[in-house]
Amino acid sequence: MRSKLEECYSIERLREAARSRLPRGVFDFYEGGAEDESTLNDNLQAFRRVRLLPRVLRNVAQVDVSTRLFGRSLGLPFAIAPTGAVGFGWRGGDIALARAAAAHDIPYTLSTSATASIEEIADQAPGRHWFQAYILQDKQRLNELIDRARVAGYEGLVITVDLPVGGKRERDLANGLGFPMKLTPRNIGQFMRKPFWSLDMLLRRPPIMPSLQGLAALKADKAGMKSVAGRNYDPSFDLAALQQLRDRWPGRLIVKGVVNPLDVDAIIGVGADALVVSNHGGRQLDTDIATLDALPGIVRAVDRRVPVLLDGGIRRGSDVFKAIALGASGVLTGRATLFGVLAGGYEGVDRALTILADELRRTMQLCGTPALSEIDHRVIAAMDCPPPGALASVQPDDFQ
Ligand SMILES: Cc1cc2nc3c(=O)[nH]c(=O)nc-3n(C[C@H](O)[C@H](O)[C@H](O)COP(=O)(O)O)c2cc1C
Repeated sequence: MRSKLEECYSIERLREAARSRLPRGVFDFYEGGAEDESTLNDNLQAFRRVRLLPRVLRNVAQVDVSTRLFGRSLGLPFAIAPTGAVGFGWRGGDIALARAAAAHDIPYTLSTSATASIEEIADQAPGRHWFQAYILQDKQRLNELIDRARVAGYEGLVITVDLPVGGKRERDLANGLGFPMKLTPRNIGQFMRKPFWSLDMLLRRPPIMPSLQGLAALKADKAGMKSVAGRNYDPSFDLAALQQLRDRWPGRLIVKGVVNPLDVDAIIGVGADALVVSNHGGRQLDTDIATLDALPGIVRAVDRRVPVLLDGGIRRGSDVFKAIALGASGVLTGRATLFGVLAGGYEGVDRALTILADELRRTMQLCGTPALSEIDHRVIAAMDCPPPGALASVQPDDFQ
């Protein structure tokens, strides 16, 4: 496994390795997006559209990719984004992600739909943890999960706000794959082509999602058109309800899924400690704006009051560089590290983070910006950029 992973020199190679390990429908669940997947693709294309304008003759012998967030140091300007159901693709995958995050000195976010519990992560993968809460209709369960994250020492609570209802993911509909997993002639055929994966599921049984266990909405969705999280989510969730969560949670509150500058003041007013510009990796609202395109507007509206993070489409170190140049304090890795874990567990995530970090360092050297604090919109070409100084770029000591 190790030597195969060493041949994976890019996130795309890890993606291919993950794809060849898994039944088609299972891989499609992880990779796919909503409806025509135009937002999923545009998240990626937005990074390709932005071109760099490197500086030269600057001493780049030493490069520093460390930064600070919430008064603590980070080895890289990354955190691992919450991704549900990882254990169906790699048993123990949540713990592998959390351990690799700790090894790279970055935070790991545990999803409400994860296949490991809040305590398992705290016990088996000590590190800097955030818990991502979906706003469940079952408020008692939601409060219980939040309280357990506090007791387990989690630093952050991530509230995902771009999912009042579940997105329509048509790859899953075409593959007939849902939760709980049903056997259909189509997916039986797919499973038989991946005997190792199928035998593991058969002999050791599919993993569970401990935070959602027992909820009525986890039962089969007859129309089969909503994700598990979408079936459980309370669509009446609003600002007043966010305020209640703020009052309950003493740690850092991170609001994930913001793309419209009109929402910014209210969210900061409630007491959020950070915002994540995110469209859920294109899995929710198709034709939603690409996150890199949304970033400058959010950065301007935030006006340095709290850190702005970004996710969606990060597959290269240069993508991280561009997000920082346009005002992000850092990024969350979604599918990049997910493909890593699906390709090879802990070693695969380690490989994904190493690739992104190495590419980021190289981009910084080639752009003449040896520290993250030197990256700003002036190394970006031909963008509709505001005048110098109008965008906040990473200021490591700003966010104590
Ligand atoms: C398979 C999968 C599962 C996800 N599960 C969650 C989740 O449980 N909670 C959440 O807030 N976001 C979830 N997301 C969205 C990610 O946190 C993140 O926003 C997205 O993956 C970023 O886009 P990228 O994958 O292109 O990097 C999921 C994404 C994927 C691909």
